[in-house]
Amino acid sequence: MVEVLQCAVYSMFANLLLGVLACVLAWLFFRWRKVKLYWAIRDVAHQPPHFIWGSLTFLQQKNVGLWMKEMYSRLEYPYVGIWLFWRPALIVNCPEIGKRILSKDSEVFRDRFLRSGKTDPIGHNLFTVKDPFWSTLRNQLNPAFTQAHLRSLHSLLFRKSKQLVQRINEDNTAKKIINLRMVYADFVTDVIGTAAFGVSSDATLTGDSPMRTVTKDLMNLGPWRGMAWSSIFFFPELTDFFGFTMFPKRSTDHFTKIFQSVAKKRSVEGSDKKDLMDALLKIQQDAKKTGGEINDEVLIAQAAIFLQAGFNTTATVLTFATYELAYHLEAQEKLYKEIVELKQSLGEKDIHCDDLVNLTYMTCVINETLRKYPPMGFLDRVAATDYKIDKNLTIPAGIPIYINAIGIHYDPKYFPEPEKFKPERFLPGNVRNIQPNTFLPFGDGPRRCIGQNFGDINIRYALALILLNYLLRPLPGTPKPNDCEIEKNAIFFMPSGMMPVEFVQRNKELVF
Ligand code: HEM
Repeated sequence: MVEVLQCAVYSMFANLLLGVLACVLAWLFFRWRKVKLYWAIRDVAHQPPHFIWGSLTFLQQKNVGLWMKEMYSRLEYPYVGIWLFWRPALIVNCPEIGKRILSKDSEVFRDRFLRSGKTDPIGHNLFTVKDPFWSTLRNQLNPAFTQAHLRSLHSLLFRKSKQLVQRINEDNTAKKIINLRMVYADFVTDVIGTAAFGVSSDATLTGDSPMRTVTKDLMNLGPWRGMAWSSIFFFPELTDFFGFTMFPKRSTDHFTKIFQSVAKKRSVEGSDKKDLMDALLKIQQDAKKTGGEINDEVLIAQAAIFLQAGFNTTATVLTFATYELAYHLEAQEKLYKEIVELKQSLGEKDIHCDDLVNLTYMTCVINETLRKYPPMGFLDRVAATDYKIDKNLTIPAGIPIYINAIGIHYDPKYFPEPEKFKPERFLPGNVRNIQPNTFLPFGDGPRRCIGQNFGDINIRYALALILLNYLLRPLPGTPKPNDCEIEKNAIFFMPSGMMPVEFVQRNKELVF
């Protein structure tokens, strides 16, 4: 009797389990069907999604920028539907639609989709925060990036660029192969550290400093950090689950210590530097005056993002520009001539940023580098309300949108022979042939890069002093620029190798 009862209970449980399983499978089936058909129903071009990853099957195997570029040439449509796991998202390939999203209708697209983990101490930074906090922050931080302020950085930039040349000279004399990415990261870390936070360091000469320890950690992109970045950009919910953060913990701690020691010093001694650090401390003081509160964590988050967003992008552009110039002697000679003419016209005076920004061919070289290698190959936004993309498609609020900047940069319709490095495209006479809204290395609209001019002037000083002193040549056995490997774990478009070139000294004495 007991056995019969036991059997009946088991079979009831088994039936219940089967029932639950059937329900789960049915739910999965219908849910998956709905997900899978999302873009087909809306008649939007797409490639069928993977059951788990959606369109993200390339993650950790291919750089996101490279994937965007491939998606652009594979599916030649103004926009393309993708899935971030099961979440539908849209890639926009059309410059006009991109312009509307970034600028004209930016009220709807104030925010980026990405976010860091809720427990990330630097998660509330200018790059990730949402409106209205973002607008307030941005207005308060803008003054630290005015032209007048950048001009005041001349002596720092000049000194650091001289040190960069000295470092190359020393490494050359010691017959070391120069790891371009690292040397430029040393240089930019010094400049940002000093210009933004008043923390002087000697990484340009020595390859090391407290601030450089932080940026070295940030450059370390193992699979775990790769996963962290992928989650931040494409599946923010996972960042909470795994506790992913924008900086590795060690870097956050290290950076926090540096920040707090400078803040303490300034609160005791005062400061008239008007740099980013002063702007940040003023935000806190102003908030106190109006009865509000901005805690140290928010300030540190802003400082951290300036380092993060600034050093890697600028160092990457410098690396690619140097590498391309080594392979394009004609372009290099033109740029060299332009810099020499400037130097001669100045006599005994130092090269100054006011002169550097007016160098036409240098602008062409930098722009062409940014076109071929935009460090952020795609621009992330999310719609706050339902939005009409065109007469055929209205997307619901909350759908992530990616403007495919790198895809547009490589479209032969806008940039003929896009794989070729041709600075001449950006000469004043030719630039009018470039269709509006097709060149987006710094994004566009109210959320465009706040550090554009700062990054640009760093690049100009470094290139000017290096080219005055060295002829750049390819090192035998190194890949051509188009064959260089791009970091597969990275969201940003950056090289994975050392990118070495040969530096041949032009004059017996170094020229400054
Ligand atoms: C050549 C160097 C640089 C490039 C190519 C670059 C590129 C970009 C791009 C594409 C964006 C996104 C814009 C958008 O979504 O429309 C961005 C945002 C940003 N960049 Fe840069 N950047 C560079 C240098 C810098 C520097 C030097 C700093 C700081 C010192 C900086 C700080 C930021 C910040 C804070 C944001 C977020 C702005 C916001 O959301 O309000 N960047 N950058």
